[in-house]
Amino acid sequence: MALLEARGVDIVYRPPLGPPILAVRDVSLSVDTGEFVGLVGESGCGKSTLGYALTRMLRPPAHQTGGRVMFDGHDVTDLRGEALRRLRRRGLGLVLQSGMNALNPVRQIGKHFGDVMAGDGSSRRGERQDRMRSLLEQVGLDASVLARYPHELSGGMRQRVAIALVLSLEPRLIVFDEPTTALDVLVQAAVMDTIRSLQRATGFSALMISHDLGLVANATDRIVVMYAGRIVEDRAARTVVTEARHPYTRALLGCYGDPRADSVELRGIPGAPPDLSRQAAGCAYAPRCGLAQERCWQEEPALRRVGEAWVSCHRAEEPEAAPTAEAGPAPGAATVRG
Ligand SMILES: Nc1ncnc2c1ncn2[C@@H]1O[C@H](COP(=O)(O)OP(=O)(O)O)[C@@H](O)[C@H]1O
Ligand SMILES: [Mg+2]
Repeated sequence: MALLEARGVDIVYRPPLGPPILAVRDVSLSVDTGEFVGLVGESGCGKSTLGYALTRMLRPPAHQTGGRVMFDGHDVTDLRGEALRRLRRRGLGLVLQSGMNALNPVRQIGKHFGDVMAGDGSSRRGERQDRMRSLLEQVGLDASVLARYPHELSGGMRQRVAIALVLSLEPRLIVFDEPTTALDVLVQAAVMDTIRSLQRATGFSALMISHDLGLVANATDRIVVMYAGRIVEDRAARTVVTEARHPYTRALLGCYGDPRADSVELRGIPGAPPDLSRQAAGCAYAPRCGLAQERCWQEEPALRRVGEAWVSCHRAEEPEAAPTAEAGPAPGAATVRG
């Protein structure tokens, strides 16, 4: 059953200066109870904006101008203030950002737990200490971090603390917004493993936002790909590498290296995502797509069923649009030694 369901969500930024930006357009997405979904796309595609909308944490200048969001069967689109806080206490999700700056530098880790757990009303001091220890243990940390300041911890440890803080609220849904981006690749993989095993053990639903399709394809059940504010592909994670049908998904697959290799090839996608303050006719990806035809420039493709997946590409069924074997480095490819 869907724990979270978004239907036809539109989000516009109305900055004080400059034109409005259509950051999210007609997005429908559901996350089942206990499901772990990856949300991927390049920077600026609208992933964070969507994550904030799904957890009702969107703030001006962003405005939801269309669509509904349902949580656990309740329409939460128009909830504000106390009604929203009540639902959050009952498990409505929240966004966990990169832990690099989520922690207050002048407060010890134990104080952070005190702040977050103060609201739960229940526990006496001793009980609270026990809970902190158990939460830290779940994320692979020792209770000695409670007495330390954020700067005394490594990036990976800070991220683990941030995860433990979120877990203390017992959410039923967590949106992880690029939680490992600032970490080096091996620590990234370790933190991702921890999140995955916690998710399996605790059973919360999760949306993992990342620009790294390779990293999340290995950790999640389902992958949703966003481009220029729209969902372009939605499919089971295990079929992404072999069966992705959208040219953008396949371009993203060419963009990651094996974290265990000592030399990682970075293959960028030529060109850049479009300016979201202007809406051109046709497919937003056409200017960067090797398969674009006349029709792609005229008509925006709808997200439609293709086999087991959802894909918005006019050419999704064509054999020439199928994944190919190693296509060789794209122009501008770089090799970085790690
Ligand atoms: N505070 C803001 N004011 C105006 N535009 C914004 C703001 N935040 C984000 N945007 C625009 O919304 C679009 C989506 O941003 P975002 O959701 O942060 O993308 P992502 O998380 O995929 O990198 C971008 O084009 C960005 O320029
Ligand atoms: Mg973002």
